Amino acid sequence: MKQLLKIPFPRFAGSSQLESQMQLIDTHVHINFDVFNSDLEDIRQRWQQAGVVHLVHSCVEPQEFPAIKAIADRFAELSYAVGLHPLDAHKWTLTAAAEIEELAASNPRVVAIGETGLDFYKANNQEQQKFVFKQQLTIAQKLNKPVIIHCRDAATSMAEILYNFQKNQGLVRGVMHCWGGTPAETKMFIDLGFYISFSGTVTFKNAVQIQESAKMVDDERLLVETDCPFLAPVPKRGKRNEPAYVKYVAEKVAELRGVRLESLAAQTSKNACQLFGLNIYA
Ligand code: NI
Repeated sequence: MKQLLKIPFPRFAGSSQLESQMQLIDTHVHINFDVFNSDLEDIRQRWQQAGVVHLVHSCVEPQEFPAIKAIADRFAELSYAVGLHPLDAHKWTLTAAAEIEELAASNPRVVAIGETGLDFYKANNQEQQKFVFKQQLTIAQKLNKPVIIHCRDAATSMAEILYNFQKNQGLVRGVMHCWGGTPAETKMFIDLGFYISFSGTVTFKNAVQIQESAKMVDDERLLVETDCPFLAPVPKRGKRNEPAYVKYVAEKVAELRGVRLESLAAQTSKNACQLFGLNIYA
């Protein structure tokens, strides 16, 4: 696929200052899930100790809006997204669309639309998923918010939709979250102007393709996340995941890229601020 749009990435001043004290941003969490009900304060203490200064909370379906909003009211360091996950595409209604748009337009804590996307693993509703995804791209573009994209076994269709959308309707920005694609797929989304976010899967022993992808993403497009409570990184693999563990993801990505953890943390946090319009260093 040919490169369609070149997006400028202005460099921020003061990056050495950011490096002096490690600051991580976990760009994808689901801490509204029941498994976190009993110990959210302890979990917060641990993410603070690990240097996590900000979190972006993802959203699977509109039913979650009140719970996510309540968590955002509780934790000042949290921003959130609103959207409908591709595995819930059958729940798309005009009401859902209106709710997503209304909340995203009216609440400054909403920094993205998502998670949305395509999940063709076991899916028999591919056309429905594509429709619902495109509807959410339209909302994101209208509100000038990035999209958080979930893409599983659907890279070719995903790239095609994004390419056609950008060609016909204009720029849409966003991130390929919990990225698990091959280097060739990674390149397609970089060429489309997207950020690439790595999760605990990059630490898994047999994740050779993901690790190759983590080496090739431009510094300015790289993000890290936990996607907690899922997919805890090594050395916590198999356990409940939590935001503090984004440090293990960052450590692995830094090791793969041959850079210090502190500079990887500073770079990815700067990128998250840029993509989501966060202003956490003010
Ligand atoms: Ni998620």
